[in-house]
Amino acid sequence: MNPAAQPSTDTADSTPKLSAWEVMFKDATNAELKLAMAASGTILSLFTAGHMAGNMQVYLGRKHYNDYAEFLRTVGAPVLPRNSVLWVVRIGLLASATSHIMAGAELTLRAMRAERHTVQSTFQDLKLQLTGKQRRRPRGRRRSVPQIIARSMRSTGVVLGLFTAYHVADLTVGARPAASSKHRHGDAYGNLVASLSRPSVAFFYTASMAALAGHMIHGVRTAAMDAGFTTTQQRAQLIEAVAKLVGATVALGNVTIPVAVQAKVVR
Ligand code: HEM
Repeated sequence: MNPAAQPSTDTADSTPKLSAWEVMFKDATNAELKLAMAASGTILSLFTAGHMAGNMQVYLGRKHYNDYAEFLRTVGAPVLPRNSVLWVVRIGLLASATSHIMAGAELTLRAMRAERHTVQSTFQDLKLQLTGKQRRRPRGRRRSVPQIIARSMRSTGVVLGLFTAYHVADLTVGARPAASSKHRHGDAYGNLVASLSRPSVAFFYTASMAALAGHMIHGVRTAAMDAGFTTTQQRAQLIEAVAKLVGATVALGNVTIPVAVQAKVVR
């Protein structure tokens, strides 16, 4: 029999196979991904602002701070078992961080595809920039600080991810070498002081807060824009001021802690 006359089974086979990632995002528009980033970013920002406010209790002394840490574990008791509210918050944070990172990664891949970049060519460009082999922009065309902050969202996001992983290993899990050798479960104040007494760790916390400030300022501003809050010039100016105030306050509030420990104001 002439093979050309056989019924073709090609249609099913020639359909390009989509990866699990592509299947997950194939129906999502850019606007939907940006809204997902805005919503998850708002949850993470609210946590970070509340966490900073809670951290300020370190200035009220060991007993006060440890009572506060214990309160976070016993919220809802005796109706709810110990740590249950804490675990709900942890799961919510993990889900928000996961959707924030995944939506961000998909938007990055789409932007790269639109600009005809590949992951490889992007790394190549980055290498050229880091080794100084790529020419600097001419004077008149150098970027302003807000432009630099806006273009650094991916790198500041990576720094914050690394910071959070280290920070949880250090103060929550108490895993060495992230945690200090003096780490003792149940003494949140002592652990914080022992950890931040190490100059390199204090420096890492302080430097990470610069990334937090930039990421939060541009994140709050962009989330408000994507959610349609900046419809008038006045509103846009208000959002801009709120974003700067929130980002700077949260980062500076946090920075005072490693500085205070190093200066032995908190010990
Ligand atoms: C200098 C600044 C900071 C200090 C002093 C600090 C302090 C602490 C302490 C003491 C704990 C452990 C609480 C306990 O287990 O009793 C903790 C947990 C945590 N912190 Fe921070 N923090 C800082 C900044 C941040 C920032 C900027 C983020 C987010 C980007 C963050 C995210 C977390 C998370 C996710 C946990 C784990 C919560 C849990 O699962 O129990 N922290 N922090």
